[in-house]
Amino acid sequence: MKPNYFISLRVCSQEVLKNVSMLQKNISDQNSDYDPGFVDPRTAHLTLGVMGLKTCDFANVFSAMENVTTKVKEIITGDEILHFDGLANFGGEVLYLSVKKDDSYQRLLSLVEIFKTTFVQYNVPWNDEVFTPHVTVWKLSKNFSYFKKKKIKKIPKDLISISLNSYFGFQKIDQISLCSINHSKEQDGYYKVIAFIDLKTGDFTNNKLESFLKVAALAPVNIAVIKYWGKRSEELNLPLNSSISVTLHSDDLCTKTEITLGDGEDDIICLNGIEESVSKNPRLKRCLKIVREHSKKFCSKEEKSKKCKIVSTNNFPTGAGLASSASGYACLAKCLGTVYDAYIDHSIIARLGSGSACRSMYGGFVKWQKGELSDGTDSIAVQVASENHWHGLRVLILVVSSQEKSISSTEGMRRSVKSSPFLQYRVEQCVDERLKLMEEAIQSQNFELFAEITMKESNQLHAVCQDTYPPIIYMNSISHEIVQLITAFNDQKIKAAYTFDAGPNAVLFTLEEYYDELLATLLNYFPPTNSNLENYINHTSSYIHSLTGKEKMFDGIQPHSSALIKIISTKPGPGAHLVSN
Ligand code: PMV
Repeated sequence: MKPNYFISLRVCSQEVLKNVSMLQKNISDQNSDYDPGFVDPRTAHLTLGVMGLKTCDFANVFSAMENVTTKVKEIITGDEILHFDGLANFGGEVLYLSVKKDDSYQRLLSLVEIFKTTFVQYNVPWNDEVFTPHVTVWKLSKNFSYFKKKKIKKIPKDLISISLNSYFGFQKIDQISLCSINHSKEQDGYYKVIAFIDLKTGDFTNNKLESFLKVAALAPVNIAVIKYWGKRSEELNLPLNSSISVTLHSDDLCTKTEITLGDGEDDIICLNGIEESVSKNPRLKRCLKIVREHSKKFCSKEEKSKKCKIVSTNNFPTGAGLASSASGYACLAKCLGTVYDAYIDHSIIARLGSGSACRSMYGGFVKWQKGELSDGTDSIAVQVASENHWHGLRVLILVVSSQEKSISSTEGMRRSVKSSPFLQYRVEQCVDERLKLMEEAIQSQNFELFAEITMKESNQLHAVCQDTYPPIIYMNSISHEIVQLITAFNDQKIKAAYTFDAGPNAVLFTLEEYYDELLATLLNYFPPTNSNLENYINHTSSYIHSLTGKEKMFDGIQPHSSALIKIISTKPGPGAHLVSN
């Protein structure tokens, strides 16, 4: 079983943490390519051992730790001091502070030996690797895929040579904790501590088991730039083609979900304050079924049948025509995957709820690979580039209607698959080439190419809808006015792109350098009904007033006041992530 908990000695000496930050800054100043490998100094620790635990192991773990507490009194008083003297590495892949080999060091080794024998005695799995006391400051495995892309296999000696023999400070061996790898970090930045031994007082404390039967997450909305339209399996939400999307920032639009496992009668969900039984919702049932089947965490039948209480809220109005299913199911997947410790790609859980939700599991630019297998195990989301990749990219959501869509995307897709020859042509002849070009445009930050494909994809989706029999109409006359305005705005050079999903609302992409001009133009052609700017756009009114005179004017396009309900300004952001509950 994959390690999910570990025994640690936290390094909280301010001197050491300051010196680690300075070391990392030093390396970064020499070559910032190595930045994604840095370990957050707030998590600095020495690992005494790692374990793969199920919840039913915890009674034994707590007994073993209690037993260790009585045994170690002889060798450790809590005043022993470890000195961090110089840097060392494991094969260039892990850079760490090494520990001076003195009497305290020997005592630490004895302490680990006691842990090991006691844990084995209590039938708790203990990863039996050779113990080398170390505090990791950089590691390749922090971001394998990034380093692979950059062809970085090791940290070079010259980057660290000046600090090799530095003294970093010291830490008392005063408290040993059992920490969770998968739970979100505590507010102070350190791992979630499940239990600890205070070596000074000789006390053992464990937090209640319930604390890890509870989890909370935030998840964002995403907008497709290569569209998903058409399923090869409705049961598993498997798509006819791969798609690519941009994850929007969760500060502006997101779902927050909290899940508690308990002894309730039924699985229940409370969505924006309204409670209902999960049994009425086949999508939710699918998500729960798969995590229960793949749970690594629970062993007994009673534990496996614990009921879920799901509490979910959106920071944007449900039914504002803004798709909340993507953020909703991504958030649910993050929580369920974590609380059950499910050994499947967590984007699969999200996909079973709503296809496009799998892309909200990651930040930035995300591809949903359609997969080939009939069980859908290869139909997963992967990150193409992170949210920090394209700094200047800006997003504006133009809310045209607050109505729920007339035809659900599932029904719309079903109809198109059945009746549209153009959908078949799109899947067979167009999408693969566009996927390739879109990935290139993202990697090279080629906005004109990105914008052109984005607009063509939106046009094609709605052309397929028109080709469907009976036809499906998602865009309305205001949507078409937006297309006309952006087309005029792009007359000399492509500076903005529009895209529409299964509804009339537009999402626009632009670059920082064109942002003011675009926003001024939008406010000129689509002014708010009254001058209440605060509710119209999420910018301060002083900023909006500073845009005066920056708008573009076009012949033949008339301003249309009260056409838009509101404008939401945002940018690419992170994917679904755990938060402290
Ligand atoms: O995931 P669903 O079933 O809500 O379908 C989403 C379909 C579109 O939003 C129209 C396109 C897409 O790729 O997101």
